[in-house]
Amino acid sequence: MLKGKEIVVGITGGIAAYKTASVVSRLKKEQANVTVVMTKMAQEFITPLTFQSLTANQVITDLVMTPKQWEIEHIALAKKADVILIAPATANFIDKCAAGIADDFLTTLILAAKAPILICPAMNKNMYENPLVQENIRKLIKRKMLLVEPETGRLACGDKGAGRLASAEKILAKINSILMPDADFQGKTILITAGPTQEPIDAIRYITNRSSGKMGYALAREAASRGAEVILVTGPTHLVPPKEATVIQVQTALDMYEKVMGQCQEADIIIAASAVGDFRPVKVTQGKIKKKESLNLSLVGNPDILLELGKRKKGQLLVGFAVESDNLLVKARKKLKAKNLDLIVANKVENGFAKDTNKVTLLWALAGQKVLPVLPKEKVAKEILDKIRTLC
Ligand SMILES: Cc1cc2nc3c(=O)[nH]c(=O)nc-3n(C[C@H](O)[C@H](O)[C@H](O)COP(=O)(O)O)c2cc1C
Repeated sequence: MLKGKEIVVGITGGIAAYKTASVVSRLKKEQANVTVVMTKMAQEFITPLTFQSLTANQVITDLVMTPKQWEIEHIALAKKADVILIAPATANFIDKCAAGIADDFLTTLILAAKAPILICPAMNKNMYENPLVQENIRKLIKRKMLLVEPETGRLACGDKGAGRLASAEKILAKINSILMPDADFQGKTILITAGPTQEPIDAIRYITNRSSGKMGYALAREAASRGAEVILVTGPTHLVPPKEATVIQVQTALDMYEKVMGQCQEADIIIAASAVGDFRPVKVTQGKIKKKESLNLSLVGNPDILLELGKRKKGQLLVGFAVESDNLLVKARKKLKAKNLDLIVANKVENGFAKDTNKVTLLWALAGQKVLPVLPKEKVAKEILDKIRTLC
């Protein structure tokens, strides 16, 4: 996910320029903000209008601009870019860059840039193999520019060999790895439940528990920062979810059950970190129950979300929590087996509930066990995801 990332795409005058439209479209799908810069020659191959339509941004085609365009002049654009991609990069562009020439917007931008620059050469095989071009590519790499090698195959001119623009998948993967070097969950969807549930008694009262949602939200932040697509199904909390996550708000255990079952097939990994109420009132009174000496509430059990997920599991990795007051590890290991979990995070009620820290033990398989010290929940989240990584 590239949500909120500023990506500048430089297009130079090669036959592969049309392929950059699909790269730009993929970047937009990943919710990046894309600004396209085209050389004069690039505009002979594909029109700026195509990229204006794809990016909803003005395409830069000239070094000299009207005063209105100053917010995208080369220095400003160089400063705001998180990454600069050049695709296709012509031999001419590579040679000019290696010589430090700045005679148009794109080459001037390159000299002003501090952001990572990713070059994707595409040209005829003889041009690519030319020692001058190869020497200049080495020069650029020495200057910390990054490269996605062209592919080998049939070229537009009819020759066979190295020179075809790398695939959009390869280019996107490289951009993701530049912007999120620790993206070890890239391509994985993780469904996380968090927070308490509220079971209404009447129009203003409800039964709930002391869960703050902090553990589930810390897991959601950690998973998103490691490149996962995060679906967060959350009970009522005062926490701010990570901006990259798809957030589904629920109130009751039945709501949570329904939403989780609706999403579980989308997920590769499911982490149930919510504190789902075990009971709900049999009857929800309309309006407010009048004050009186005493009140008997009749409760009924809620469905067991984790047990159901364990039954429905089809290749997903399922992680649960065990919060117990006594006999913690014995009960947690029993739950691991009974609910068909791959990993269980065990903690005592007094150690983690509603706190910023937790002291947990991770249990998996027949005898796998890792005892962790008291840690901030962010660190606990990292430990849990590190363990999940080894089980995937
Ligand atoms: C039809 C045609 C196709 C071209 N294809 C390529 C190409 O794939 N790769 C390349 O390096 N140059 C190619 N060129 C040459 C470049 O367009 C030329 O070197 C130009 O000066 C590049 O300018 P720019 O780097 O400022 O965009 C092609 C030229 C023409 C006329």
